[in-house]
Order: sequence, then C-alpha cells, then structure tokens
Amino acid sequence: MLTLQSFLSLLFLLFSSADALYSYGLLRCQFTSTGDLLFLEQIYFNKILLLQYNGTLGKYTGYTKKAKDIADQLNKSERFLEQEKKNEEKCRAHQQLAFDFLSKPVEPYVRLSPVELQGSRHQSVLVCSAYDFYPKPIKLSWLRNGKEVTTDVTSTEELPDGNWLYQAHSHLEFIPTPGEKIACKVEHASLMEPKLYDWGQCLRRTGIRSLLGR
Ligand SMILES: *[C@@H]1O[C@H](CO)[C@@H](O)[C@H](O)[C@H]1NC(C)=O
Repeated sequence: MLTLQSFLSLLFLLFSSADALYSYGLLRCQFTSTGDLLFLEQIYFNKILLLQYNGTLGKYTGYTKKAKDIADQLNKSERFLEQEKKNEEKCRAHQQLAFDFLSKPVEPYVRLSPVELQGSRHQSVLVCSAYDFYPKPIKLSWLRNGKEVTTDVTSTEELPDGNWLYQAHSHLEFIPTPGEKIACKVEHASLMEPKLYDWGQCLRRTGIRSLLGR
C-alpha cells in the first residue's frame, strides 16, 4: 500500500531523474465563453498520462496499476482534495480576469519602417506593423498625398502574438517622389476613428533614398 509520504517521494524521484526519464506535472485551466470550466491536474511520465485530477469529477484517476493505487490513496486524503478545490477556485478567478481583459479592445502599437530591396534601384518598400492589438480584425491601408493606394500593397493576415493579442503587417512598394506624403491608415475596434501614421515628414526633408542609405 502506498502512503501519501511515499507518493510525494515517488514524485520527487521522477522529477529528479531528469537525464534518464522524463516526467512533468501540468495544471490545466480550460474555459469557454459560455461559462463551462474544466480544471485538470495531470502527471505525465515519459509522455504517458499516469495520474489525473479532474475538477468536474472531484477526484483523482490513475491510468496504470501503480497510479490507480496512488489515486485511491489521494482520493481518501481530505488535504489533497481540499488543495485541488482551492486550485479550481483559482482557475475560476482566472476565467473572470480573462473575460474582463478580452472584452476591452486593445490599441495596436504601430511602427513604420523601410525595407531594403535587393537589386532594385528605383523601388522602395515601406512596412507598416501593428502589434499587440485585440480583437483580431484590423485594416491597414496606405495613403499617398492623402489618396488611398490600391496597387503594390501586400498585407499579412492577423497573426497571433502568443498572448491573446495579434499583430499584422502591410507592405507598400513604391517609387519615391520628393515632397510626397505617405501614411499608413489603421482601422481597429480600439480606435474611435481611423488613425494615420505619417512617413511624410522624414521624406520631405531627406528623401527616402538617403534614409535607406543609398
Ligand atoms: C472530466 O470529467 C467530466 C465529468 O465526468 C468529463 O465529462 C470530462 O470528459 C473529464 N475530462 C477529462 C479530460 O477527462
């Protein structure tokens, strides 16, 4: 029979022999916008799920003979079950935080920058990059002297930034003309009206060529 003590030393053993074996524990907090919530605590050994606490079931399940014994012991332990209930409450609190955060639009951070073009003496490329915005839909477009540009523009899809926020990029290919004013127009839920980011001022003074170091 396994005691709680030996369960803890078993975990220690698994985690301490990292060079030969691979073990990890995972706390998973899954939820949907309709309010469903699932809290899972999982212990894997060599990529195989050995033991799992399922918050909906309110108990541990073992997936091998030995892990079943451990699960039986844990299910008799008020202390472990109490701790899991607390973990599940934390999961629930995160759900609220996540939805509060996601219900507010987040304004993009926008940057305009030139791109070096190999082998082209006349064409220049500007890229308009928008970072860390939410929600996903965004429109990036270009204005030359206040007029919308419809050709020589390529835009990426909105790409996940890995933290629930997104980024997007738009490229404009053009032949620089002195005195010309170029701007990137950003339309997004976080903005009351379209926002213009000007490249023009730098252009007027020096011309894009010298900015690109040619
Ligand atoms: C957790 O338990 C619930 C209720 O029995 C079940 O519907 C769900 O599939 C379980 N989740 C996992 C990942 O085992």
